[in-house]
Amino acid sequence: MSTPQELMHAQFAQVFKIAALAWGDPAVAAARASASPQQTYVDMTTECPVKQLGDGMFRLTSMADIVAVTRNHDVVQGTTYLGSDRPAIPLGLDGPLHKQYRHMLDPVFTAKRIEPLGAQVRQLANELIDGFIAKGECDAFQDWCEPLPSIIFLSIMGLPLDQYENFHGFKNLILGNANVAAMTPEERLARSTEAVVWIQSYFNSNLDEREQEAAPRDDMIGWLLSAEFDGRRLSRTEMLDILGLLMIAGLDTVAASLGCFLSFLASHPDQRQRLLDDPTLTRSAIEELMRYESPVTEGTRVAKADIDLPSGVRVPAGSWMLISWSGANVDPAAFVDPLTVDFERKPNPHIGFASGFHRCLGSHLARLELSVALNVWHERIPHYRIAEGTELVYSGNPRAPHHLPLVWSA
Ligand code: HEM
Repeated sequence: MSTPQELMHAQFAQVFKIAALAWGDPAVAAARASASPQQTYVDMTTECPVKQLGDGMFRLTSMADIVAVTRNHDVVQGTTYLGSDRPAIPLGLDGPLHKQYRHMLDPVFTAKRIEPLGAQVRQLANELIDGFIAKGECDAFQDWCEPLPSIIFLSIMGLPLDQYENFHGFKNLILGNANVAAMTPEERLARSTEAVVWIQSYFNSNLDEREQEAAPRDDMIGWLLSAEFDGRRLSRTEMLDILGLLMIAGLDTVAASLGCFLSFLASHPDQRQRLLDDPTLTRSAIEELMRYESPVTEGTRVAKADIDLPSGVRVPAGSWMLISWSGANVDPAAFVDPLTVDFERKPNPHIGFASGFHRCLGSHLARLELSVALNVWHERIPHYRIAEGTELVYSGNPRAPHHLPLVWSA
């Protein structure tokens, strides 16, 4: 049996291989490095919607191809749980088993179930702003966009907040936000393995403690402990495989979206004024910014059989596909004037939360966090701008300005 170290090695080797193929593509590299990649994505989508990037790897950018592929039962996702060879639940599963887990998880993340969390998001967004508003400046990403979803996640799960710093360190290392470029591959592997061991013991000790308690607590872990799957309780490994994925899927994506949206609004005062004049527009503005900014830029899939795409290209069995949500979201065949940001765009069938079988489980939670948080920001700091002389540097996927210096009149 492989050790966690060997499994991590295999997982990272795979991630690095895909990344080298995908990001070695000049168009993808240009889009990744840009604060405004939308025109590059339009060019990719219109000029070459399907491109072979290397041996057995295709880049897909058109809405029609991506929607078809993500609904094709001969195409699989294949993500594993960190440090194991087990599939992440539900992302790494496909077919009837995936459907069964979604059937169990979907009711916990409906808009109705999530709505009451709005008060908590509002309170935390305000408390974080209290810490810097009088200064007239902050690094909005570091001080607000990033801690907000992490603290909300720990609180929804019922995990102790005193571990926030460790948790934050783990997340940044695994998601490549820490200074991983300065590490040798061996160092990164060693530190990542340590981080995975830490997070597993963090989850495990919390689950051990709760199993001794008479009744499940009223939080997400309490729900997992009492959930029924296939007429039985979930096993410990199933709980870990679900918790690990929720954490990876839900933290950086919301932080990145807040960073992209706030940066857009800081540099487009006319658009921002529309939200100040009518905060009820925030919900539809978020859909449009989700389309235009596409903070989660791409995902991957594997073809298990030959796949004939709507564009006419055949992807051979065994090929990897880089699925560009960002490309599809500015595909002129799917959106009128895709480069115009229209907060009242209707319809707006963007796939910023993916399409098909693996569409985002947490989209209602994300939408709630984003809309409540942005409205609180605008109530407290309506007029703000990016600090003079700042050149924002965006990360790849999720794309976000990890430093976002904003200034306002205090
Ligand atoms: C703005 C924030 C978010 C964005 C842009 C986003 C985007 C996405 C995308 C693009 C996928 C598809 C991944 C793929 O197919 O490869 C996905 C799946 C998923 N997301 Fe999100 N997400 C966000 C927030 C969240 C949150 C807050 C949670 C949960 C707490 C969450 C949980 C999940 C899960 C569990 C999946 C896998 C679903 C499945 O396999 O059936 N996401 N998300």
